[in-house]
Amino acid sequence: MARPIQISPSVLPADFSRLGEEVAALDEAGVDLIQWDVMDGRFVPNLTFGPDVIASARSYTTVPFEAHLMVLEPDQLAARYVEAGCSRLIVHAEACTHLHRTLDYINGLGARAAVALNPSTPAAEISHVLDLVDLVLVMTVNPGFGGQKYISTMEPKIAEVRSMIDRAGYADTVDLEVDGGISAATITGAASAGANVLIAGTALYKHPGGLKAAVDELRSLATAARPPAA
Ligand code: DX5
Repeated sequence: MARPIQISPSVLPADFSRLGEEVAALDEAGVDLIQWDVMDGRFVPNLTFGPDVIASARSYTTVPFEAHLMVLEPDQLAARYVEAGCSRLIVHAEACTHLHRTLDYINGLGARAAVALNPSTPAAEISHVLDLVDLVLVMTVNPGFGGQKYISTMEPKIAEVRSMIDRAGYADTVDLEVDGGISAATITGAASAGANVLIAGTALYKHPGGLKAAVDELRSLATAARPPAA
């Protein structure tokens, strides 16, 4: 059974002086979850949200939060992001000395664990941890900033990861997320390659029709692009 399409914003382009209202507006717009791009200035050359910032927005919506931890040694911070209200933590395979242990630890915190792969990282990196995750994120930009160009050469990797997940027996339980440069122009390629969770920042916030029109447009394009059921 194909995994359902989910549209999620990155809140990087939001007005940080009104984060609560911005999160409420995303809920109103019909997003399925909200992704917080957490950056430590070491794993990526940018610095963003601490756990207290996310906690301050938690009460403005019941939509699930996930933290995309673009940080070194995520084990040190994981518990704080769960306490802040994130029900899924995404760690980068490249940032973990012991990826299997980190994912197991996150599950032990009562959160859902997920793993992200940067553009140059082969899919094989995750072949021994699929039993520990409920989502794999294939980055379609190099992490650190919003507004970058979608890297279309990632589409074969998206298809490869989807096939790995399905062959390992997790077709009905593990999602495939893409993040970076997702827009009306690029979402068809990503969804037809096998992505079902689509993260968008710029495309949502810059849409002339507003957030809801953007979410609706991306959802219908992604749904139309899905590979036919096997
Ligand atoms: C990169 C960030 C961005 C962001 C989405 O580290 O993770 O990919 O979420 O940004 P847009 O949608 O503007 O490319």
